[in-house]
This record gives sequence, C-alpha cells and structure tokens, in this order.
Amino acid sequence: MSKKASWVSRFSFYLLAVGSACGLGNIWRFPYVIGENGGGAFLLLYIFLAFTVGLSILVAELILGRSGEFSLLKITKLVSLQAKKPFYWFGRLSILINVVILAYYSVISGWVLHYLTQFIVGIVNENRIAYISSINMEALKNSGSLQFSLASVHLLICGFVVAKGVIERFEKIFAQALPILAVLFIVLIIRSFSLDSTSDVMRFLFYPDFSKLNLSSLGRALGHVFFTLSLGMGIMVTYGTYFKNDEHLPSVGFRVTTIDTIVSIMALLMVFPIAFLSDSNHYFTDPGILFESLPRLFVKIQYGEFFGFLFFLCLWLAAVNASIGLLETLIANFSDKFHKISRNQSTFMTITGVLLLMIFPAFSGTLFSKFKWFNQSFMENLDSLLINYLLPISGLGIIVIFFHLLNETERKEKFIDATGKNSQAMYRHWIWILKWFSPVLIGLAILLQFINLFR
Ligand code: PHE
Repeated sequence: MSKKASWVSRFSFYLLAVGSACGLGNIWRFPYVIGENGGGAFLLLYIFLAFTVGLSILVAELILGRSGEFSLLKITKLVSLQAKKPFYWFGRLSILINVVILAYYSVISGWVLHYLTQFIVGIVNENRIAYISSINMEALKNSGSLQFSLASVHLLICGFVVAKGVIERFEKIFAQALPILAVLFIVLIIRSFSLDSTSDVMRFLFYPDFSKLNLSSLGRALGHVFFTLSLGMGIMVTYGTYFKNDEHLPSVGFRVTTIDTIVSIMALLMVFPIAFLSDSNHYFTDPGILFESLPRLFVKIQYGEFFGFLFFLCLWLAAVNASIGLLETLIANFSDKFHKISRNQSTFMTITGVLLLMIFPAFSGTLFSKFKWFNQSFMENLDSLLINYLLPISGLGIIVIFFHLLNETERKEKFIDATGKNSQAMYRHWIWILKWFSPVLIGLAILLQFINLFR
C-alpha cells in the first residue's frame, strides 16, 4: 500500500468515497432532474439503475484500483499494449470529461458561495427577514463575470488545499461538517413538511406516473447515476487504491450507493414542498430550483439566517471535497505524463487550464446566450453532452478495460470475501450485469436520446 494511504484510517477511506459521491449532484442537480422528468416514475427508474448499472460499475472501478494501484490513464495504456488495441482513448476521454466537469462544477460551487455570502450579509443586516426574502438568483443569472469570479475563488481554494498538501486537515473539517449537514437536513425536511403542499409532494414523488417518461428518460437517469456516484472518470479507481486488502469492496460499493441514494431522496423531500407552494411551476425544471426554494424556507424558520449560513457553508465544503477529488485525479495524471515537472507546476497548469475552460459555463447565460441548440441553452447542452452521453460512454470503456485486465480467477478472488458466504451467487449476478445488462442499457439510452433529439 502506498505511503499516501497510510495516514488514512478506515473511516477516512469511506469519507473519501462517500464524500466524492455526495455533493451538489445530490442536492442541487437531482431535484431539478426529477422536476424536469415528472417525478415518481423517473425516481423509480433512477433507483433501479443506481443499484444495478451504477453499483456494478462502482465495484468494478474500486476493484480496478486495488488491482493495479494505478491511475485509469495508466491502466488503459497498459491494456492497450497488451491487447494491441487503441483502448487508451478511453483513458483520454475520462480525462477530458474530468476537466470539463471540474470547470462546470466550479461554476455551480460558485453559486453556493454566492448564497453563502448573501446569508452572511443577511446575518449582519438590520432587517434580516426582508434581506433573506430578497435573496434570489437574478444577480447571478445576469452577470457572467460574477459567476466567473466566484468559480475562480472556489477553484483557487481547492488548488491551495491540494498544492499545500493540507487535504488531511480539510478532511477533518469536512468530517465535522457532515453531521451538522445531516442534522440541518432533517430539521429542514421536518419544517418543509409542515407546509401545506405535503400531499401534492408525496403524490408527485412517490406515485409513479409512467406516462411522464419519454425517450430520453433512460439516458437522463443513467447519466445522473454516473454523475452522482462519480463514475466514469477514474476517481473511484483512485479511491480503490486506498482501501486495505481486508476491506470487502462490493460491500463498500453497496454502502456508498445506499448513502448516496438516501441523501438524494432527502434533498427531494427538502426542496419540493417549497417548490410546490409557488403558483407557477416553471422552476421545477430550472437548474436554480434549490437556490430559489431554500431562502423561502429559511425565512419561515426562527434564526433562519443562521441556518441558511450553516447550510450553504456545509454544502460548499461538500463541493470543495468533490472538486478536490477531480483536481487530484487530474494532477496525478498530469504528473504521470510529464515526469519532469514538479507537483506544484502541474497543479498550476491544471488550474490555469480549468480557469480558461470555465469561461464557457460561467458566461453561458450572458455572452453565449445566443448559442441555443435543440431548444436548450448552452449550459443545458453542455450538461447533457457531458453527463447524459459522455459519462456513460466512458463507463462502457471502464467495463471493457476491466474485462481485459482481469481474468476470471482474479475477478473472483477480488470480489468474493474471505468467508465466501453469499458472495458466490452475488458474483455471478454482478458479472452478468457488468457484461451484458449495463452495456445494452447504455447503448439503448444513448440511441433513444439521440432519436428524441431529432423528433
Ligand atoms: N458525485 C458528485 C456529486 O454528486 C459530483 C462529482 C462527479 C464529483 C464526478 C466528482 C466527480 O456531487
């Protein structure tokens, strides 16, 4: 086991994997994807895919990490050489997605920072209630430079944490923030459920209406599974290298998927009761649904400004944690590729590259507002291309690499734990899902979405 891993206790391993999975994807993206796709039926589809395709690929990534202790880029090169096929393209694709997702994720993290500062101002303001009621997304929507500046601050802070090697200290802070976020979540859900909209929300979320699904639903649900479980970019491969040999990776994968799904459903229960109170449901499908709803809930709570501040602080720490995972993977690959440059230099170059890329998502609503395709804004197209198409394709690459790198005996040995109980049967299901079910579903999802685009 590498030296890097020695400081990390078992709890921290989990924290890394769970921390990378739980973030803005669960709390910001999931509610609006559910809103956009009509509620209950889509939620069921999502849960089904998370525990079949998502879980099986997550376990494969963790096992790949444990097998080689290499980055995904290196593994794909190795397999390319062995098989004499250009599999290294999968490695390159994963890096490309990693960079663009980091740029995109930083912009949304910038939105969180904006709300965090607004709540700080709210606390010191004389008329707190009036101030919190007036917090909205307008300033952000109308200013690309504000979005760019906030995203840059976020990215530079992440860069500082990574470059200065203070990740351990950050992890400790983050570990303390998690219970606070959990308690806040529960308080907010209880408060949200005392509003008048509860029965509508329950019907919307838990009474599946399958007529709401369309040709692109499968792709959207699958894309979100990849995004929220941080799959397809080799991040879980890296985390797989940290787990000790006696840790049963399929159980780790199952726990991470379960926690991630619970957090996502909690986010729905928190956001929708407020969203349903609004007379128009235009922002059900709006990426700003979380940010538009929450201040309206905090106004109704005593000391809401403090709760708001704490909530956005914890959410931002979660965003920093997820971004660090992306940044670390990029820097590790960069250093692998160019041996001569120092770690600080590669951090600097990676951050400069991401900063430049960030111009696109940050200015999508202003400078690039004219770039609309398929009835969608620039940002929506970017989100869809990355998450609904490229991530699943990259996941397919991981499956291919996995079957090329490990033979039957190695796969079995890595999957089945020492006691062997239950694992034999699970092993067969897992291989079936990985080899047949997932590739077919990924192919089908991409095809159906494509057809839907031109209908
Ligand atoms: N899984 C994270 C979330 O749900 C997002 C993420 C994706 C983080 C990919 C790292 C890599 O917020």
